[in-house]
Amino acid sequence: MFIGQQPKDTILEDYARYVNPGRVSVFKQMGLDFVVGRREGVWMWDVDDSHRLLNCRCSGGVFNLGHRPPRVVKAVKAALDEIDVSDHMLLDETRAVLGRRLAEVTPGDIQYSTFSPGGAEAIDVAIKLARGYTQRPGIISVKKGYHGHTGFALATGEDSFRGKFGPMPPGFSKVPFGNADALEAHVSEETAAVIIETIPATAGILIPPDDYYPRVRRACDAHGAQLIIDEVQAGLGRTGRLWAIEEWDVVPDIIVIGKGMSGGIDPMSATCHRPHLDAFFQQNPFIHLSSFGGAALGCVAAMAMLDQTTEPGFMEHVQAMGDRFEAGFVELQSRHSIVAGWRRRGLMIGFEVKDPRMGVAMSAVLAQNGVPAVFADHRPTTIQIMPPLIIQSEEVDFVLEALDRALAFLTDHPEMLAMVSQVAARLGL
Ligand SMILES: Cc1ncc(COP(=O)(O)O)c(C=O)c1O
Repeated sequence: MFIGQQPKDTILEDYARYVNPGRVSVFKQMGLDFVVGRREGVWMWDVDDSHRLLNCRCSGGVFNLGHRPPRVVKAVKAALDEIDVSDHMLLDETRAVLGRRLAEVTPGDIQYSTFSPGGAEAIDVAIKLARGYTQRPGIISVKKGYHGHTGFALATGEDSFRGKFGPMPPGFSKVPFGNADALEAHVSEETAAVIIETIPATAGILIPPDDYYPRVRRACDAHGAQLIIDEVQAGLGRTGRLWAIEEWDVVPDIIVIGKGMSGGIDPMSATCHRPHLDAFFQQNPFIHLSSFGGAALGCVAAMAMLDQTTEPGFMEHVQAMGDRFEAGFVELQSRHSIVAGWRRRGLMIGFEVKDPRMGVAMSAVLAQNGVPAVFADHRPTTIQIMPPLIIQSEEVDFVLEALDRALAFLTDHPEMLAMVSQVAARLGL
C-alpha cells in the first residue's frame, strides 16, 4: 500500500522537484540512488526490490532494535485501537507509566521526565531548565560536539552548522573534549550548565580518559553548574550498557534520551532530571509546551522498547557482537594499510582510515557494497559503524566482508578521491 506504488525514477524526480533537490544530487554524485522500500530487522530493500542494505547508520541509533521491531509494532498497533497522541496539556496515563519506568532505569536519583518529539528539542528543554533553575547564562559545550539543529541545541555546536544563521544567543562557549584541565579552568559562577555527549559521535566516537567525567562532575559541583549528559546516540544499550555514562560511575543532573527511544516507530525523546531541578518546573508547570511532546503512542512504543532492551542477555549480546567486529577489524588492519584503527564501546564504533577523503569515499563505496555507514561530520577520517543492536554473527560477518571489499576497492581506485573532493566541497568539509 505504501511501498513501490511509483516507479523509482518518478520518486527520484518528485523528491528532486518537491522535497530536496540538493540532497538528490549529492547522493547521485556519490553513486547512491537508494530509496528506502521494504524494511525489516537489520535490512532495508531498495524501493524497486533490486537489492538490500544492512543498515549500519541506523539514523544514529533510531533503529537500535532493527526496523519495525515486532514487539514495538505489536504494542503500537494494539494502542491504535484505544488511544491517540493525547492532549499534551492534560495528564495522561501512558506518560505517567513511562515516567516511572525511566526513573527506575536512569542513573542515580534522576526522577522526572519531560517528553519531546526529537533529540534537539529535548536538548533545548535541558538548557532551558538549567538556565531557569540557576538563573545563569553560561552554557559550556565541547568543540565538535553535536546536540541537534534547533535553537539552543544549535547554539552549542560548530559554525559549520550554525554559522549561516546570524547571531546565536549569548552565553555559549566551548572547550576541547576530554580535557578536564580546560573545563575546570572555564567553569565559573556564571555557568548554568556543562553539556557533553558521553561519547561524542559527530566528533568521531571519542572515548575520554577514565578520570574525565569524575572531574567534570566535581568541577560542576564546585560552581553549582548543572551537568547535562546527552545520550541521544550513546544511550539505551548502544555501548553494551543501558547508559554509556555508567562506565564512569557519574550521575548527571540531566540526561537526554532520543533516537532509539522511538523503537523506530513513533518519535519520542526525553529530558530526565534530578529532584533539585524540579523546583523550577514546580514554580512554572506550563513554562515548556510541545503539542507532540510525550505523544501517548510514542510512550507505548518507548515502553515496549525498554522492555526489550532491559531483558536479561540483551547487553551481553551487544558486547559479544562488538567483540566479533573487533576481531574482524584486527584482521582487516593486518591486510589494508589505509586502516588507521578504531574506537569502540559495545556497538558504538568509530572505524578510522588514514586520509579524510578516504572516509568520505568509504561511506559511498561501503553503501555500494551493501552497508550504509557514514563518516563523522567533524572528523571525516572516522566511519561511524552503528548497526542495530539485534545484529547476529553472520550479519556482522556480512559487514566485515563489505568493509574488506570497500577497502580493497579504494586502495585500487585512488581516482575515487577526486569524486569525493567535489562532494566534500559541497558538504563544506
Ligand atoms: C548526540 C545527539 N544529540 C542530539 C541529537 C539531535 O537529535 P534529533 O535529530 O532527534 O533532533 C543528535 C542527532 O543526531 C545527536 O546525535
